[in-house]
Amino acid sequence: MDDLKIGVIGAGGRGKLAGYAHKPGKGSRIVACCDVSDRWLDDARKSYGDDIALTHDYRELLDMALDAVFVTTPDFLHEEYATAALEAGKAVYLEKPMAITIAGCDRILEAARRTGSRLYLGHNMRHMPFVIKMKELIDSGAIGEVKTAWCRHFVGNGPDFYFKDWHAERRYSTSLLLQKAAHDIDVLHWLCGSFSRRVTAMGDLMVLGKIESRRPDTGLPQPLDRESLDWKRWPPAAHEGMNPVIDVEDVSLMLMQLDNGVLASYQQCHFTPDYWRNYTVIGSEGRIENDGNGEQGTTIKLWNQRHGWCPEGDVAYPVDEAAGGHGGADPNIVAEFVRFAKEGGATQTSPVAARNSVAAGCLAAQSLRNGSVPLDVPRLDDALIAYFDRQV
Ligand SMILES: NC(=O)c1ccc[n+]([C@@H]2O[C@H](COP(=O)([O-])OP(=O)(O)OC[C@H]3O[C@@H](n4cnc5c(N)ncnc54)[C@H](O)[C@@H]3O)[C@@H](O)[C@H]2O)c1
Repeated sequence: MDDLKIGVIGAGGRGKLAGYAHKPGKGSRIVACCDVSDRWLDDARKSYGDDIALTHDYRELLDMALDAVFVTTPDFLHEEYATAALEAGKAVYLEKPMAITIAGCDRILEAARRTGSRLYLGHNMRHMPFVIKMKELIDSGAIGEVKTAWCRHFVGNGPDFYFKDWHAERRYSTSLLLQKAAHDIDVLHWLCGSFSRRVTAMGDLMVLGKIESRRPDTGLPQPLDRESLDWKRWPPAAHEGMNPVIDVEDVSLMLMQLDNGVLASYQQCHFTPDYWRNYTVIGSEGRIENDGNGEQGTTIKLWNQRHGWCPEGDVAYPVDEAAGGHGGADPNIVAEFVRFAKEGGATQTSPVAARNSVAAGCLAAQSLRNGSVPLDVPRLDDALIAYFDRQV
């Protein structure tokens, strides 16, 4: 069987993920790349060979004879590029967040249904071994019936990754509560087996907005200059060369009421010294929590006896680090996409769930900017839900 022919729109940054699908003669290969930067097109030639087709214009890439496309550009381009790729009949791997508005997500889902092209969402946390272990424990009944779930997100690399480029501007990302939390809202929904019905939030720009050292304002979305990052810089206020506009929050606290009655919370801070996520899920007969975050090895601890402070838990489940990006999640999610693009079938990630994580994140951002008013999440059109259910 011929290799699946794949194009990449946004070849640098996250676009390097597509490299896991470059297996000439073994089922799939990257044959075309698009990027606005020559630097990443040169890099793509080195990675994928001299015969790779290169372009600055995604429309040229979509005119090529490709079976599938990775859309790994910044968030505000997802809707336009993913919709065009679906219209061009390509199977699409779309990075999270699906889009920066709820309406944008719904238009992408409608395009997938209208065209019949296969749509896959890059929620790689569903492929992280520690998240999978937590899901297995919950589904096995280890904590009884899930009642509440909390995620604390310590974004220690926040000043580098989210305040020196386009991420820092609402017009490109809506909010870091959407941009970063799209992962965690999706994981909370997945672990709890339901989607947010109502959300409320508080947030503020407390520390990073006060930094005066800024990049020149070109009026265009700024790319991150990864070579200039200094991983030892501390404290956060000592950072330099921030995005000219910073109008997103550096602290966000969000509450969710899910359709099945579960109450969930998510907290995000961008000026903490450490970089990891901690989930705790409490059921009617116990509690689980991750100690560690996948990349350095993780232990999932289960408490199911009564006692006082007991840091080791009643049962500990070590989760080994797997090879590849994000604790092994990246090669696994790309392998699942390649199989889905070729054959269809059930997948660990879900377009409907991706839309619902964006919906909760967008409305939480709206809530925190409007006096923490509680907001109801609009339900996705039933016909669209049924279409994606049938695809599985
Ligand atoms: N799932 C994950 O773990 C994960 C991790 C990082 C980023 N992401 C997602 O990946 C996406 C990209 O993030 P990033 O940090 O790599 O962004 P980035 O700013 O580095 O951009 C990625 C690439 O897109 C290119 N690009 C920008 N505008 C373009 C255009 N108009 N046409 C073609 N190419 C263009 C850039 O030059 C760059 O090479 C975001 O949506 C982000 O949320 C996901």
